[in-house]
Amino acid sequence: MEAEKLLLLAGLCFLLFAVTPGVSSAQIDPLVYEEQLLWVSGAQGHVNTYRIPLLTFTTKGSLLAFAEARKSTASDIGAKFIAMRRSTDKGATWSPTTFIVDDVTEPDGLNLGSVVVDEKVGSVILIYTICFHLYHCGPSSTMMVASQDDGLTWSTPRNLSVQLGVQSFAPGPGFGIQKRYSPAKGRLVVCGHGTLEGDGVFCILSDDHGRHWYNGAALKSIPYNQKKKAQDFNPDECQPFEMMDGSIVINVRNQNNYHCRCRVVVRSRDGGLSLPIDDLSFDYTLVDPAVAAGAMQKEGVLFFTNPANEQHRVNLTLRWSLTNGTSWENKAVQIWAGPSGYSSMTSLDSDSAEDRKYIFVIYEKGHINYDETISFAKIHLYGGL
Ligand SMILES: *[C@@H]1O[C@H](CO)[C@@H](O)[C@H](O)[C@H]1NC(C)=O
Ligand SMILES: *[C@@H]1O[C@H](CO)[C@@H](O)[C@H](O)[C@H]1NC(C)=O
Ligand SMILES: *[C@@H]1O[C@H](CO)[C@@H](O)[C@H](O)[C@H]1NC(C)=O
Repeated sequence: MEAEKLLLLAGLCFLLFAVTPGVSSAQIDPLVYEEQLLWVSGAQGHVNTYRIPLLTFTTKGSLLAFAEARKSTASDIGAKFIAMRRSTDKGATWSPTTFIVDDVTEPDGLNLGSVVVDEKVGSVILIYTICFHLYHCGPSSTMMVASQDDGLTWSTPRNLSVQLGVQSFAPGPGFGIQKRYSPAKGRLVVCGHGTLEGDGVFCILSDDHGRHWYNGAALKSIPYNQKKKAQDFNPDECQPFEMMDGSIVINVRNQNNYHCRCRVVVRSRDGGLSLPIDDLSFDYTLVDPAVAAGAMQKEGVLFFTNPANEQHRVNLTLRWSLTNGTSWENKAVQIWAGPSGYSSMTSLDSDSAEDRKYIFVIYEKGHINYDETISFAKIHLYGGL
């Protein structure tokens, strides 16, 4: 009897193990597994508005979330903190908010930003801009803070404009990358955009773990440095990610709806030095109201989040592609039907079965306005199995 029971148990275990899906991308069926609000505008820390959420993994397997904490107004200009929360249990619980940067009383304070992890040395680098809009201040400066201890403490701000020049450059918002494949393996690549007249996608690069930065690829708006009209070519906020062939795909906000109300996609095959027009396309499936979106590649599958609506920032949707972005699976997942704005994604990339099952999304979410809260969603890629 006992032996029979054991056998039955063993059989059951085998069955359970056997039917648990491996990580075959064809079986992807995303499920919002857990969701929690990390910041509530007006409520936490006497901050008027939390906006521009960023999310990253760390080399120790933690998650770090960042947002602009706009002190007294919802506006892009004005004084701000950079707010951060940290999770060491894969997003289940989060540390209290710490303010890691304070721009004090800048009339045109800081704007986020890109977070990039240097996996070779284990540092987390955050790049942001101050005086981006040149509103009662100048020049604009590109700034950097870094953490060498998994996000617990942060360096004092360093002014990268000393190396890069003082052109207005707004990184991301989202993550920068460290090249995992050649060409330029190990290089840090952070892409962003310029001012509305001098707009375009610009990348800054570092080949020595963030000590020295230089200007890389530029994809300029047309007409460059001139006032734009509706439907002009105006590539704006952007999210780069690396493909497994070593090219960098950048998913870009199409600010003036040139050609479509959808995303612009460009690709660099030389590690972020150039963005040739030959490698530019429009992704008609990724309809977009002109917003900062989330995009990444995990184990050969592309993921994309945005408010999937041509007119309004509503309908935060997750899509995935099994064909390197040439097509998207029909079964998109609606994460939030209501008002929703900027989003960003990350995943933990250890080889553990657990980490292969999840991706993490952070996004602006509200009932009446999209800037009411910043929400974190843990997505199970295999329907909870
Ligand atoms: C950063 O460096 C640039 C170039 O040297 C300078 O013009 C700018 O004022 C500096 N910004 C800050 C905040 O110190
Ligand atoms: C996607 O690109 C990778 C190289 O990055 C290639 O190995 C793979 O075959 C491509 N997949 C499809 C479906 O085209
Ligand atoms: C939400 O997105 C889905 C997927 O793209 C689309 O089918 C649906 O029409 C969208 N709804 C709204 C209200 O935008």
